[in-house]
Amino acid sequence: MSYNLLKGKRGIIFGALDANSIAWKTAERVHEEGGTFVLTNAPIALRMGTINELAEKTGSQVIPADATKIEDLENLVEKAMEVLGGKIDFVLHSIGMSVNVRKGNAYTSQNYDYTHKGWDVSAVSFHKTMSVLYNKDAMTEWGSIVALTYMAAQRVFPDYNDMADNKAYLESIARSFGYFFGRDKNVRVNTISQSPTPTTAGQGVKGFDGFIAYAEKMSPLGNATAEDCANYTIAMFSDLTKRVTLQNLFNDGGFSNMGVSTAVMDKFTE
Ligand code: NAI
Repeated sequence: MSYNLLKGKRGIIFGALDANSIAWKTAERVHEEGGTFVLTNAPIALRMGTINELAEKTGSQVIPADATKIEDLENLVEKAMEVLGGKIDFVLHSIGMSVNVRKGNAYTSQNYDYTHKGWDVSAVSFHKTMSVLYNKDAMTEWGSIVALTYMAAQRVFPDYNDMADNKAYLESIARSFGYFFGRDKNVRVNTISQSPTPTTAGQGVKGFDGFIAYAEKMSPLGNATAEDCANYTIAMFSDLTKRVTLQNLFNDGGFSNMGVSTAVMDKFTE
């Protein structure tokens, strides 16, 4: 269903790798709601993924950018304004990667070069993106910036590894940068904390199947899907949420406020 919530709005969407990506579903929904955008991803991901399919479907251009590189981000923001014909109304940061997780290193025995790389990609890239947008004065007034996060930033999920620390840092950047973006440009900055979702990044986490099944049984509304996340993001990009900022917003079927559910209790009394 479309409500034309983003009619006339222009944006940048990071992180659509394949049809499972949360950014992919979001791009499809933004398109349905009348928004226009450029798609971006790291050059290597562009070679591996299927982003051109999405670009064709949504009439978008793809502009490569490694989100850890300021010069790539500067080029992206300049080109995006050129292609879209004006300043940017919405930005989705949907980027995450831990080299320690990929290499199977335990949280207690990290390779710190990997830790640094994962932190740069998953957290500092959000600061870099906002810094380029801010310094180029590229956002429209009442624009909206959203990054995706996970509840391991607040609570312990052992196999989430160093991504937990990266997400805590990411959420803090949203608040800190969000203050300046709000004060100086009337732009809002929020993070959406999403349920476990079967995507390339999600499935990289050890024990993901158990993790997602447990969250499903704990949440009164069940896990939020990638489509649910896309819909929430649309609301955050729309003019209906103009004064929501500096928030970490849970899109998790209620999981984050649960202690235990009857479905989980039943498993222990079987
Ligand atoms: P995904 O694997 O489809 O997306 C991750 C994206 O990050 C990929 O497109 C990848 O190419 C991109 N990326 C990696 N390094 C990059 C770099 N240097 N520059 C630019 N882009 C880069 O997986 P998913 O799940 O859609 O992830 C999107 C976001 O949602 C991530 O921040 C993730 O942590 C977050 N999230 C995912 C959950 C899940 O269970 N899948 C749960 C909660 C949050």
